Amino acid sequence: MSETELIQAALAVRKKAYAPYSKFHVGAALLTTGGEVFVGCNVENSSYGLAICAERYAIGAMVAAGHKSIAKIVVAATPLASPCGACRQFIIEFGEDIEVVSVDANDPDQLNRWSITELIPHHFHFDK
Ligand code: THU
Repeated sequence: MSETELIQAALAVRKKAYAPYSKFHVGAALLTTGGEVFVGCNVENSSYGLAICAERYAIGAMVAAGHKSIAKIVVAATPLASPCGACRQFIIEFGEDIEVVSVDANDPDQLNRWSITELIPHHFHFDK
């Protein structure tokens, strides 16, 4: 899948976000190294601290489908957002060579691009 299509997938799933408290709608679409695509949106709760971020939702869907290696993840929000610290740690679990792209949902030509190691240097890991 092309990056443009991955961005379209992130924008589409963002429309399904459940964010009645923050009103901050986020969509994420990830591409595995094998070419599969998984999407997620944020899901909030009356008990605010239980909110699930879009990125972690997409990663859960990937793992449940039997995949464990991410090539790229696109995050769509407006204004532009980079993944939170917890999501950075969650993303790097599935590859140290992952590209992270953040797009403005209202103007998808506006984007930022990082490597995951740039976003979370010295991350925590167990030696497997
Ligand atoms: N959120 C995400 O979905 N991804 C992030 O990386 C940052 C924050 C969500 C969580 C919450 O529902 C809302 O954005 C406001 O924090």
